Amino acid sequence: MPVSEIAEQITASVAERDIALERFEAARRESEALTANLTPEDQSIQSMPDVSPTKWHLAHTTWFFETFILIRFDPNYRVFDPGFAYLFNSYYEAAGPRHPRPERGLLSRPAVDVVAAYRDHVGAAMARFAEEASEDVWRDAAPLIELGGYHEQQHQELILMDIKHVFSINPLLPAYQAPRLHVRGQAPVLGWLDFPGGLVEIGHRGSAFSFDNETPRHKVWLEPFRLATRPVSCGEYLGFIEDGGYQKPEFWLSDGWATVCQEGWEAPLYWHREDGEWSVFTLSGRCRLNPFEPICHVSFYEADAFTKWAGKRLPTEAEWEIAAAGVPVDGNFADRRHFHPRADCATTPNGNEPVLCQMFGDVWEWTASPYLPYPRFRAAAGAVGEYNGKFMCNQMVLRGGAAVTPASHVRATYRNFFPPSARWAFAGLRLAEDLG
Ligand SMILES: [Fe+2]
Repeated sequence: MPVSEIAEQITASVAERDIALERFEAARRESEALTANLTPEDQSIQSMPDVSPTKWHLAHTTWFFETFILIRFDPNYRVFDPGFAYLFNSYYEAAGPRHPRPERGLLSRPAVDVVAAYRDHVGAAMARFAEEASEDVWRDAAPLIELGGYHEQQHQELILMDIKHVFSINPLLPAYQAPRLHVRGQAPVLGWLDFPGGLVEIGHRGSAFSFDNETPRHKVWLEPFRLATRPVSCGEYLGFIEDGGYQKPEFWLSDGWATVCQEGWEAPLYWHREDGEWSVFTLSGRCRLNPFEPICHVSFYEADAFTKWAGKRLPTEAEWEIAAAGVPVDGNFADRRHFHPRADCATTPNGNEPVLCQMFGDVWEWTASPYLPYPRFRAAAGAVGEYNGKFMCNQMVLRGGAAVTPASHVRATYRNFFPPSARWAFAGLRLAEDLG
């Protein structure tokens, strides 16, 4: 090989490593920025089994890099604390036994400052690794470093979801951040966009990053359908509540109705009524309900019951993806620091033509689709094969990202998933109906 070609290859490799390291460090900095205002006491609480303490998230994302990159690929790496593997393994059977999830809030140790030292230790080791790894080792490790960055972004959203729940059960109702100047906005008139259906393709394609659950790309048959131009608003959902929606079993799936009765649900999570006035708890404390904001913190059961009451249905994930395919991935994401859905979608670039608003950001949108493997799906080999595939049962797919999702995390093909009774995610819905 000519010397000039070798030099080119070396330059390309150095540039690739620099980019990978910069992405890694940016993800790490963002986690630390999001948690900078939380006290050690805030960071230690687990308010329900689904919630993890903030410091657990910070340590677990670090364990991911330590376990799947440094221990595996760097023979010179020195483990920070051998006991952490048991505490901060989330659900990887192949990575050994682990501390029970509902007991993460019982861990007063390691303290927050020790977790910070753990992060620094792994961060420095990753920088060294990026500089010193051989070409062969780097080639195998690079996809896992990229996965680790996206994994950390997922936990950034969980940090915000979880601290909101932690603060919501404190009678002082602490605010995660000061209220932000908020333009009240109005929800535009609900319009409809028609889609012809037919044989379409969904799923990720190309060489850019995606999670394995977005692949393989495959064909789906769709009947003609319509999709609402914006998510359902709080005001519209209030109509369902005031019409006795939570007291009428005819709108509910059997499991949903059983959950309503068992849990005593009368409104979405974080809604509160006092003297006839509704308020909602947000990451900026309690606020008066804005009827124009997208509805948030409803379970799949509530989303589905609302559609029955409205005489519509939820879109399938394939319908949602086809509709979103031409929509720019832009919106009210975590980077804007509102951390709450907004009612600011009033623009119609095509004059009076209906356009899809808020497909991305604000609220995750429940779909009618169960979370299943796509045809011919194969989980990755090794421990990271446990990342998505083993959860493909008893959960429903959500699309589009929310006000607590990092902007660079989401795509039209991105599949989020939660059990149908989960309400602490920033989840709302958009209506669909059959056409023709
Ligand atoms: Fe994780």
